[in-house]
Amino acid sequence: MTSPDSATYLNPMLNPEGFKLGVFAYVHEGGVTITKAPERWGARWPDIAAMARVADWGGMDFLLPLARWKGIPGEVDNRHWSFETLTQAAALSGITERISLLSTVHTPVVHPVYAAKALATIDHASGGRAGLNIVCGWNKADYDMFGLQLMEHDDRYVHGMEWYEIWSRLVRDTNDPFDYDGTYFKDLKGISGMPGTVQQPQPTVISAGYSPAGRDYAVKTADYFLTVMVDEDEGVRGIADIRDREKRFGRRAEPLKPIGVAYVVCRETREEAEAFHHYYAVENADTKGVDHYVAARAPNADTPEPLIRELRMRWAAGNSAYPLVGSPEDIVEGLLLFRKVGFCGAALSFVNYLDELPFFIERVLPLAREAGL
Ligand SMILES: Cc1cc2nc3c(=O)[nH]c(=O)nc-3n(C[C@H](O)[C@H](O)[C@H](O)COP(=O)(O)O)c2cc1C
Repeated sequence: MTSPDSATYLNPMLNPEGFKLGVFAYVHEGGVTITKAPERWGARWPDIAAMARVADWGGMDFLLPLARWKGIPGEVDNRHWSFETLTQAAALSGITERISLLSTVHTPVVHPVYAAKALATIDHASGGRAGLNIVCGWNKADYDMFGLQLMEHDDRYVHGMEWYEIWSRLVRDTNDPFDYDGTYFKDLKGISGMPGTVQQPQPTVISAGYSPAGRDYAVKTADYFLTVMVDEDEGVRGIADIRDREKRFGRRAEPLKPIGVAYVVCRETREEAEAFHHYYAVENADTKGVDHYVAARAPNADTPEPLIRELRMRWAAGNSAYPLVGSPEDIVEGLLLFRKVGFCGAALSFVNYLDELPFFIERVLPLAREAGL
């Protein structure tokens, strides 16, 4: 896990102060929405690059992509047009100056030796701003493209732990070759590679998940835990559960920092925001896409059944992220709720990032600062 001593480089995720605010899920068409509304995010590269510059200069802390290989079959082709996340961080490192650049990496798909080399490259190119978001996978359609079998739920984390052991050893700047013989990564010989990452002993690590196994994995590997908050009570319970797990595993590093996912619809007035929310998430929901998504996720994740049934609108609106819908003041209230529950930051998405992020930066960030975030 990232050592505070390595904070000699400008990287907002290493700064222990402040509630972290980042932009989430911007490298694929539709972002987190499953909507047919024409305003939806097209994820064309010039727009991604422009949005990244706005986020960088505007004071956001991180850019965090969702990793997809295959889209959601629906009435429109959501998420099929998508960029790869390691290469996007490398590309964005050249046109940004201070923001943290995360790469979301599927452990079953990307070999840890390759991921270590790629992260080291991004970390050097960006002056120590790289970060790894580990996802152990769930989407069978993604696996099918690689000819991979979807492992049993908890086995994915056993595989992910071996992956992490190899990756984290390799990014250290030691040039000390080692062998590895695990259950999944068998008979790897003379693993070595220079350089290690600029951040030592390793770059910022995030892990994304929800289930008990996912939480255990994050406690053992990560600095930050990217997760979902259904509502205040569930959020409080979830974070208490993470703290229990930290004790159980005798976590020695500083406490895991939870980051919640939220989608933002912010307008001058709450009425305008609610009207747009209804327009894209209800009137223009891609119902076929939502059906497909719910069916694909339900058997894999520990997402509570009532959440799947009752919150279909949240899938259309923002992939089951927490809704932040309203005026700038309403959005700050929502962010304060995340902090009250115990989150250290929020990963935010927008229907159209380039149209909406400047307004967020101009109107919400000053209020958030005033509120002590
Ligand atoms: C907030 C959040 C973000 C995630 N991002 C991705 C992603 O970008 N790509 C992906 O394939 N899976 C992603 N996942 C899925 C998880 O990595 C995990 O495979 C899935 O949630 C099932 O594991 P779990 O039951 O432990 O939550 C995400 C999950 C959460 C909760």
